[in-house]
Parts: sequence; C-alpha cells; structure tokens
Amino acid sequence: MMQNSMFPNEFLEKLRSASSVAVLTGAGISAESGVPTFRGHNGLWKKFRPEELATVDAFLRNPELVWAWYQHRREILSKARPNPGHLALQGLEKRFEDFTLITQNIDGLHQKAGSRRIVELHGNIRRNRCLDCGKIYETLDSSQEATVPTCECGGSLRPDVVWFGESLPAQALEDALNAAIRCDIFLSVGTSAVVHPAASLSTIARQHGAFVVEINLEPTVISDQVDVSIQGRAGEILPRLMEALEEER
Ligand code: OAD
Repeated sequence: MMQNSMFPNEFLEKLRSASSVAVLTGAGISAESGVPTFRGHNGLWKKFRPEELATVDAFLRNPELVWAWYQHRREILSKARPNPGHLALQGLEKRFEDFTLITQNIDGLHQKAGSRRIVELHGNIRRNRCLDCGKIYETLDSSQEATVPTCECGGSLRPDVVWFGESLPAQALEDALNAAIRCDIFLSVGTSAVVHPAASLSTIARQHGAFVVEINLEPTVISDQVDVSIQGRAGEILPRLMEALEEER
C-alpha cells in the first residue's frame, strides 16, 4: 500500500517471519514526549557540559549542583507521557516470543507505555543509589528533596544512572549483547549511535546475521552500515510500521 512504501518488502517479510527481535532506543524516541535529546538540534549538552554534571568527580566536587540538575530533570520527566513511538514498541513486543527492548534512556517512558522486556543500559533516573554501600532506593515522581539525601549507612545518595567514565551495569550489558547476537531483526531507533558500547550493538547484531534497520530523524554514523535506514520521526514511523505489519501480504 502507498502509505507504507517507506518500508522495503524485504524488511516487512523478515520482520513478519522473525523469531527474535531486538530494539535499541535512544533519546530520539522520547523527543516527541518533550524530553530533550543530548546531541543535535536542541541537545541538552549544548546547554550543559557533561563533565560538569554527569560524572562522579562532578558529584564529589559539587553534589548539590548535580543533585539539583537531576531533580530538575526528574520534574520534567514526571510530566512526560509515552508517545506513539513508545506505544508502537509495546505493541511490537506482543507479537514476538523473543523480544528485547534495549534502551539507553533513563526516563522510564518505555515502562510507562507498558513494555515489559526492557534492558536499561544506562540506569533509571527514578532510582537513587548509595555512593558508599550501593543500596538502591526507588524515588517517587513527586520526590522533592532539595538537597542530597543520605543513606541509612550515612553515605550520600546519587541518581542510579551511568555517568561518563563509569561501566554499564554488567547484567544489562550481557542481556543486551545476547539479544543482539541471537536476534533476526535489530532496530536502532532515535540514537546518534556515538556512545559505546550501546552503539556497537547494531554492528554485533549484523555480524551475527541480523537484518539491521535504523529509524532516525537524520543520517547517523551507522546509516551506511545498516540494511535499511529510514528517516523521520519515531512517533510517526513506528505506528506506521505496526500498520504495515498487520496488513495482509
Ligand atoms: P543523542 O542525543 O545522542 O541522539 C538522539 C538521536 O535521536 C539523534 O540522532 C537525533 O537525530 C534523533 N532524533 C531526535 N528526535 C527524533 C525523533 N522524533 N525520531 C527519531 N529520531 C530522533 O541521544 P542518544 O543516542 O540516546 O548517556 O545518546 C546516547 C547516550 O549519550 C545517552 O544515553 C547518554 C548520553 O551521554 C548517558 O548519560 C550515560
């Protein structure tokens, strides 16, 4: 059908017959929910220098500044709602027995959309973690603590997210790698694909035989290494993909 001519038949056929699907999302999937991306037009890092806010050194140097920035982002995120892109991925999950949604986002919008098989590579802003003993605390959207809270052990609590220079959570990385290795289709959605190891997942998937498709507003560094690169908004393209999948062959 005309409206779905953006999807090559080969892709639709492979997706319909796939037994394992992995999707990697980045900040672009949440852009249409009003969450700023990091890079590009309107990128967060244009206004803030990451090394002043998103490193453990920055937190040790100026915990209150880093805390205030995260509280500000928590406030923005508490109002953010999943958009049609998140919802389409939740629908896609239901079609496959083996489906993994790997996300670099810390905003929790995939959970709010109802996705279940999620691997969070960079943590989640809704949690805090003790800098000293590692104890995890769930925070509430409405959490208003203006200053850095303290753990029962006396240590300072920090957001449970991955900062520059830190390793990714080992189990999440292993799950993501395994999903990339075994999938038949790998979708890379709304990510600039410059931050590793997440950015390597599409290459790993392709090396292991997956058909790799990118959906992004603009070309990225991996666009010439994927099987299909589709340009446009994730919130428009993903629902159209779901429609195309449901159409009779
Ligand atoms: P970036 O901000 O680097 O890239 C966002 C991508 O989304 C860009 O390539 C945009 O073109 C694209 N984009 C924007 N709006 C879109 C839309 N409506 N539909 C589709 N694509 C859209 O974000 P990430 O790739 O997620 O890490 O960044 C990776 C990591 O860098 C983040 O997880 C974060 C940051 O450092 C940590 O904080 C550890």
